[in-house]
Amino acid sequence: MNVNFKKQQEDINFKPAGQFEETRFEKIHNVIFSTAKEGSIKVAKEIKDLINEKQAKGEMCVLGLATGSSPIKVYEELVRMHKEEGLRFSNVITFNLDEYYPMSKDNLQSYYYFMHEHLFNHIDILPKNVHIPNGSVSSEQLHQYCIDYEQDIKKSGGIDLQLLGIGRTGHIGFNEPGSHINSETRSITLDYITRVDAASSFLGIDNVPKKAITMGIRTVRKAKRIILLAWGDNKSSIIRKTIEGEISSKIPATYLQSHQNTTFILDIEAASELTRINTPWLVGPCVWSEKLSSKAIIWLCELTGKSILKLIDEDYNDNGMSSLLAQEGSSYDLNIKMFNKVQHTITGWPGGKPNADDTYRPERANPAKKRVLIFSPHPDDDVISMGGTFDRLVEQGHEVHVAYQTSGNIAVADHEALKFAEVAKEMNFYQDNGFMLDIIKQVTSKKDNAIDSIEIRKLKGRIRRSESLAATRYLGVPDENVHFLNMPFYETGSIKKKPLGEEDIKIMCEIIEKIKPHQIYAAGDLSDPHGTHRVSLNALFESLKILKPKSFMGDCWVWLYKGAWHEWEIHEIDMAVPMSPDQVLKKRKAIFFHQSQKDGVMFQGNDIREFWMRAEDRNTKTAQKYNELGLADYAAMEAFVRWHY
Ligand code: F6R
Repeated sequence: MNVNFKKQQEDINFKPAGQFEETRFEKIHNVIFSTAKEGSIKVAKEIKDLINEKQAKGEMCVLGLATGSSPIKVYEELVRMHKEEGLRFSNVITFNLDEYYPMSKDNLQSYYYFMHEHLFNHIDILPKNVHIPNGSVSSEQLHQYCIDYEQDIKKSGGIDLQLLGIGRTGHIGFNEPGSHINSETRSITLDYITRVDAASSFLGIDNVPKKAITMGIRTVRKAKRIILLAWGDNKSSIIRKTIEGEISSKIPATYLQSHQNTTFILDIEAASELTRINTPWLVGPCVWSEKLSSKAIIWLCELTGKSILKLIDEDYNDNGMSSLLAQEGSSYDLNIKMFNKVQHTITGWPGGKPNADDTYRPERANPAKKRVLIFSPHPDDDVISMGGTFDRLVEQGHEVHVAYQTSGNIAVADHEALKFAEVAKEMNFYQDNGFMLDIIKQVTSKKDNAIDSIEIRKLKGRIRRSESLAATRYLGVPDENVHFLNMPFYETGSIKKKPLGEEDIKIMCEIIEKIKPHQIYAAGDLSDPHGTHRVSLNALFESLKILKPKSFMGDCWVWLYKGAWHEWEIHEIDMAVPMSPDQVLKKRKAIFFHQSQKDGVMFQGNDIREFWMRAEDRNTKTAQKYNELGLADYAAMEAFVRWHY
């Protein structure tokens, strides 16, 4: 370990108390934070210290910078430090990693635009010290341009600190799989997965450039210090492969394993597949909490292909779980306990079973008729993620309300809006058609990636509203129980949302107070590609904090479902609601009412299947997993985690 690295490790005293040590599985130094914000603040502090240290010596500080979602909070913190703590950037030279090609500087999707919007416009860096690959050089000049960019980095004295994100392909910069360890700044063809990931920002994959200019692997590895940021469970798989796998051009980020001064800064979700987090019993002694025991036993069933009641002592002993066995006595006792625990999560009565002993049921029997409030971040998550449970709650006589948190207007395609505008125009034939004609004109003359006008957004929001009402009517909910919150944080007309504001929280508090629910259901999904689910959930958590002292809240239980992208892991589930084959079909039909989200939806995430297909697949898989553990064989199951606030 070189001295500088050791110093960095001491400096980065990042580990919260009780954090885990690195293991023999890991080949890259990494530090895990509870949140992206905490990690970003530490990284910004390291950058600040470096700038100040160099300033004190009268030296320039050369930073290599990245774009994308990962570094945004670091830039926010640097801007804050500039404004509030007097951090100066007069001695800073920057080189950005990459830029789409071709790409003009004024395009909202350009990295040039991104860097100015997030950093350069708010600090005192000298414009001449800013270098971002120019996406508008001609193809004839491109080769020489890349050579010159590389030379400019050398002339500046080389990069002192390089900030990186990581793509799901394992790219750093835009060094896609196949990139050579000795590669330098050059043009590159983007991987399909990278283009899929960028599709939502470009409003469709067809608009994503096919090429980019990127610094090479050698360029990046020459940096004296490298910090890679990764947040969220979308990154967990590639992070594990990069940190624990073999060095390979198939995952270019693995080349960082042989760089002497690299740290990965992760949040707990991005780190969740690392061996020491995911299966800590394989790494060393564990404190066996109930949650960890459940996780380990279910993992053991999957590994051995056995149901819970068939596990034997040898299975536990051979797979790092002998201390759990010693703690509990025998595999027989351990198995029965675990079996009962999983069994007790299953209920066909999500609102509680009236007149039944509820000691081992997930929900209370009383009150027999509950007021239920389902929060749905977009106008369709309710039926996609919990359509079967929703149906049961209505059928079992509870007073079910649905609150759509956002209008979901940006996810309606222009051609869909045009269809409705044209119908409206035709129907208005004998009246003033000016308004509709204007909308039709706006839609048909819209430039690529332009933000919709307020009128078009309204129309798109109305389309989703009508679709939602069609679905809730089909499930038997009266219209007066369907609430459209139109939370303001969402209403920007673009992917980038406003931060949660007081008005958002006020709207949430008002609806909860009005209904005084016994049950709240909400999306606990943190993997929504645009973060709307995360923000919607934060809004709920904030509101719960405010409302907690109210007496009705003492009776209010919160259940989290996952959105369209993932499912809870079996050991996490507190309530599993089985569905019959007929209920599966009913749920499918409820999802179909959201027609604007069918047939090639705009914001698909990483999975190109339609929402109803993903939902069915996921519900079937949950049922299969329960069955493989030795529990009853259901067609499908929806899963919930109870949130204790
Ligand atoms: C951006 C860049 C890319 C991104 C990576 C992750 O300048 O070079 O390698 O860092 O695609 O993107 P996000 O951070 O949006 O997940």
